[in-house]
Amino acid sequence: MWSKLLNTVLLSVITTQLAFSQSIPVGPLPSLPTAVTSGYTQQDLDGLWQSVEKGGVSVVPANVTHVLEPVANFSVGPDPPRFRPSYLQASTDSLKFPKGFLYGVSTAATQVEGGVKEGGRGPSIYDWGCHILPLFCNNENPDVTVNEYYQYKQDIQRVKAMGVTTFSFSIAWPRILPFGTKGSPVSEEGLKFYDDFIDELLKNGIEPVATLFHWDAPLNIVAQYGAFLNSSVVDDFNNYASIVFQRYGKKVKTWHTFNEPRVYCSFYAGFPYESKYPDGVNTTTAPFTCIPNIIKTHAVAVQTYRNLVSEGKIAKGKIALKHNGAKPVPFDPNSESDQEVVERVADLGVGIFSQPIYVDGNYPQRVLDTIPARILRRFTEEEKKIIKGSADFYAIDAYATGAAKTPPEGIEACASNMGDPNWPNCVDTSPAAGHSLATGWALGAAGDLITRGGADTSQLLRYQLNWLTTTYPSPGGIYITEFGFAEPFEAMLPELYQITWDERRSNYLLDYLNEALLAIHEDKIDLRGVFFWTPYDNFEWNLGTPVKYGLQHVNFSSPGLDRAYKQSFFQVRNFFEQHLSN
Ligand code: GAL
Repeated sequence: MWSKLLNTVLLSVITTQLAFSQSIPVGPLPSLPTAVTSGYTQQDLDGLWQSVEKGGVSVVPANVTHVLEPVANFSVGPDPPRFRPSYLQASTDSLKFPKGFLYGVSTAATQVEGGVKEGGRGPSIYDWGCHILPLFCNNENPDVTVNEYYQYKQDIQRVKAMGVTTFSFSIAWPRILPFGTKGSPVSEEGLKFYDDFIDELLKNGIEPVATLFHWDAPLNIVAQYGAFLNSSVVDDFNNYASIVFQRYGKKVKTWHTFNEPRVYCSFYAGFPYESKYPDGVNTTTAPFTCIPNIIKTHAVAVQTYRNLVSEGKIAKGKIALKHNGAKPVPFDPNSESDQEVVERVADLGVGIFSQPIYVDGNYPQRVLDTIPARILRRFTEEEKKIIKGSADFYAIDAYATGAAKTPPEGIEACASNMGDPNWPNCVDTSPAAGHSLATGWALGAAGDLITRGGADTSQLLRYQLNWLTTTYPSPGGIYITEFGFAEPFEAMLPELYQITWDERRSNYLLDYLNEALLAIHEDKIDLRGVFFWTPYDNFEWNLGTPVKYGLQHVNFSSPGLDRAYKQSFFQVRNFFEQHLSN
């Protein structure tokens, strides 16, 4: 049926502004279920789940293993032989990360939890999208993934063995409010799950860091008003945020409202969000309808958080949001036009969220000049006041950097024409632009090519940190809230011993950490923490499980979803043993 009427959907997995997009053929758009706006009975919830299961796949109960006790006498086993890349010069041997530095791992609910129907959880848009159109998620779904919902005690022990001081995770909105809205009943079982998870971390001496929204919009609010396409989301999200702050705010002291909203809003360009476009919105404009709604939602939730702190209802902590993206380097360092493209990509990719929040409540000038107000709503003076300063620190998920090359049609022709395929960034995204013209070399190691464009450039980390901290300064310092490496071809390796020898990842991560130390000591960057993506291989959104970012391998075909440490786990642990201050 899908082959009859083909339309093309852009699935963007863009952690770099130089988007890597994958087109999949889709038939007539499946319709979303009827939204539940009152009553909110068990029958209503079952109805939402039935709409998910219409895709012909029943949601699998997460009954892989229900062992909740930590493994007795847990041991990580012997070190792999040491491998010390030559670029790790003795110059950093004696350098330390500052006291209180957060050394952690990062995960997201949809990617690791599983147990999607457990404890009265409602469906998220990912549950619906992956079941209704399996191709959307590489014929996989988040039903079980690594089953962290049931295996978190063992997982925390395994991560603890790495010596981490902190663990960043996200809370699933539909686990707390199955229908998403203010009127939705609150799931006590859902709340209890995160109570236990947080307590388990604390008991093991690991500081919890929580993200409120890592892309798992409740299906019901997408069906009702298109989620972040509508300003109703501000109140509904604030209600959710307020419940969560009050429940965990005495124990969790570091919060992120949103994960990578620039990437998330780009998802609105296609399935499944296009099923609910308001009049006048289309695939080009939808991401820009989403942006001001998220910025305002963030600012209002931060106000709620700060009020709760000042009323003494929760502990004093800090809150921000996780940005993504990078400033590219010019493809041709002698080209003024390439230099201008660099600035455009930086402003449209990162500044569009960061400038309002960290600088002046408004979008960067290049954004205002390129995207008309009818597409990207401008903020009122009142809104600007609450947006500016609505973050206590800067957080960046720092992965790849690209080279920016002027598109063949030229910047002006592109910027003034919304129909231009390169609008609005106006950067040439052809693979030929992926290296430096000056040197002829790639900008850095390439991770698995199906994951992202650009190169995973540890060499450019200091450039990024210098740029971010000068352009979007924050008295609370800067954190790298995600970084990692998708080892090329790892999914194709047949033997465990081959998989666990993840040499490219190890090199990359050590090089990156080395650069982080130099940024702190030589550039005087106020870098206060780094979080590895990710402790275990998991469900990588639309790309499913073949994409491997984990410091641990997960055997998805074993009944217990067995975990195994990779070499990189030990390399990182040893690096921090040497460089963490006591
Ligand atoms: C980030 C995202 C994570 C994970 C990671 C690896 O952009 O926040 O959820 O998918 O990329 O690709």
